[in-house]
Amino acid sequence: MTAEIINGKELSKELKLEMKAEVDILKRKGLTPHLSVVLVGDNPASKSYVKGKEKAAAETGISSSLIELPVSTTEAELLQLIQELNEDDSVHGILVQLPLPSQIREQQVIEAIHPDKDVDGFHPSNIGKMMTGEDTFLPCTPYGIITMLKSKNITIEGKHAVVIGRSNIVGKPIGQLLLNENATVTYCHSRTKNMQQLAAAADILIAAIGKAHFITDDYIKEGAVVIDVGINRQSDGSLTGDVDFESAKEKAAYITPVPRGVGPMTITMLLKNTIKAAKGLSGIE
Ligand code: GUN
Repeated sequence: MTAEIINGKELSKELKLEMKAEVDILKRKGLTPHLSVVLVGDNPASKSYVKGKEKAAAETGISSSLIELPVSTTEAELLQLIQELNEDDSVHGILVQLPLPSQIREQQVIEAIHPDKDVDGFHPSNIGKMMTGEDTFLPCTPYGIITMLKSKNITIEGKHAVVIGRSNIVGKPIGQLLLNENATVTYCHSRTKNMQQLAAAADILIAAIGKAHFITDDYIKEGAVVIDVGINRQSDGSLTGDVDFESAKEKAAYITPVPRGVGPMTITMLLKNTIKAAKGLSGIE
């Protein structure tokens, strides 16, 4: 079998066109969704992600502002800024790019963002709502993955989904969203003993490990759906996934590439959440 490729870049393009049309209507009603992005320090990967977010926002007519703070910023200073953004009615979404410098506690920052402006879906109150299946902001990468599966009409209900990785940003929430869609979910992580055997039993395999080409075809069941969340920089500067794409595509039924896979979808879902925040806060539909 040669897998069908789920092209996140193409799907993002379609979704952004739909969002642009929605934003145009909201603008005519006097509402321009606004996203404030906060970047602390000068981590090159973070800088490039933030640039991508600003560009995508502009493409859909969402206004955005980038607030850049020095690497020496204190936790109190960042919390003060978040307070101001929480109170600013012209700001609908707040995103503080992670990771943060070591003197700042990430959890304090995440919990300081008003849940109604938490377009990352990282606030404990929004995580709780996600767990109970209430309407809320879903974390962007997992939300993007579910959207990719649905775009191909891939059945999730009753399927065995295996998630490799248990980060708060990707692994844990994608397992929860797949469970909400009635999958049977197994989590694997660095202490898992029989990872290859578990992965090879998956109907839907989510690779969020952070190791280039870790998932070779012997981790994949014939006909599986393989979602690659890895973004690993190679020595030549190019990006590659956690999945060994060339061997995996011969066994999988569906596969996401890197680049042009999950990455563009993460940014697109952030825009979707920003529109949702703007509508929720303003009462304008
Ligand atoms: N760093 C890596 N991914 C993310 C994300 O989805 N949101 C934020 N705020 N920071 C990140």
